[in-house]
Amino acid sequence: PFAGLHHQPGDALLSLIASYAADPRSDKMDLGVGIYRDEQGNTPVLQSVKLAEQQLMQEQGTKSYLGAEGNKAYVALLGDLVFGPDMGGRPFHAALQTPGGTGALCMGAELIVRGSPGRSIWLGEPTWPNHAPIFQKAGVPIERYDYYDVAGMTVRYDALLQAMECAQPGDIFLLHGCCHNPTGADLSPAQWQEIAGIMGARGLVPFVDLAYQGLGDGLEEDAAGVRAFLNAVPQAIVAVSCSKNFGLYRERTGALYVIADAADEAARCLENLISLSRVFWSMPPDHGAAVVAAILADPSLTALWQTELADMRQRLNGLRAQLAATHPALAPLASQRGMFATLPLSPEAVGSLRERFGVYMPLSGRINIAGLRAETVSHFAELILPLLSR
Ligand code: LMR
Repeated sequence: PFAGLHHQPGDALLSLIASYAADPRSDKMDLGVGIYRDEQGNTPVLQSVKLAEQQLMQEQGTKSYLGAEGNKAYVALLGDLVFGPDMGGRPFHAALQTPGGTGALCMGAELIVRGSPGRSIWLGEPTWPNHAPIFQKAGVPIERYDYYDVAGMTVRYDALLQAMECAQPGDIFLLHGCCHNPTGADLSPAQWQEIAGIMGARGLVPFVDLAYQGLGDGLEEDAAGVRAFLNAVPQAIVAVSCSKNFGLYRERTGALYVIADAADEAARCLENLISLSRVFWSMPPDHGAAVVAAILADPSLTALWQTELADMRQRLNGLRAQLAATHPALAPLASQRGMFATLPLSPEAVGSLRERFGVYMPLSGRINIAGLRAETVSHFAELILPLLSR
């Protein structure tokens, strides 16, 4: 049964983990996979997570199944965080827990195929390398537009507007809610409002990938993009990840929210999501969602988590500002947010940084800002400045 299988290229991002680990140089720098690191280069479990885990150890009385929707308290509490109280005033919605943000994206893609086969999803270029394979695998036709001018380090807002003009009513636009991966370049609040209005008027459907809420400007500020759609469009899809803002990476903690126009539509969405998830994973893994629910249900744990999240955000923004200040060519980084920046480096330049200096980043020139340290920023800038292609 395996004769038809062809070799597959290794995942470019994940393979960096192994190559970095195998590099014996002590001054090597890991700017690869999007994992938060502290000044010592560690990714410790958050204190709020540890305390919630202790609580679970004490109180959890069973590991029996919860059902295909997963932990409903988690889904509701996380929904408040993303949309504001009462789902931002939208009464008709469907939501379920998923294995990570990737699980949520997959469920959203499958729902689109069932609900409106043949409708295209529009992806900005560049985007997270897993986006296109997820929609391709589900069978959603993909259209692309330029989101970012790498050499100029600016958002191509004009290209987004043009893409929305070319799209057919019912087409879907995948948008990064905040902390754009891989560029760090987000839309401004005014731009979010404008595109929400255009999407509503043109019958386009936003599909927001929100994987970094709280790591840009703050929990509320980073939700402004998602919330701009609440009063503007009849339907929206939102994939949420708790991997980064709760540091739960390997626990695979995510959720999918579908905003619907009517009670019956919301019910059909939920029934289909449940039947799809039953086939894909039957039930989502419990632990991460139970931890997030315990944190968000307890005001003192929530306050501790928010402090820890603010520390992560401040470290990222501080390093970003420091790097931007090293040279005018890097100044545009200052207004960008989140874990990533995409530098105008050719694949050859990226290869040479790896070979000669042990600096690890994907060939796209994306860097994980959290992989830098206050004392390595200027050295890193010296290494890359002669290689920038602008
Ligand atoms: C990244 O973009 O580095 C992260 O989201 C990790 C991943 O799964 O690719």
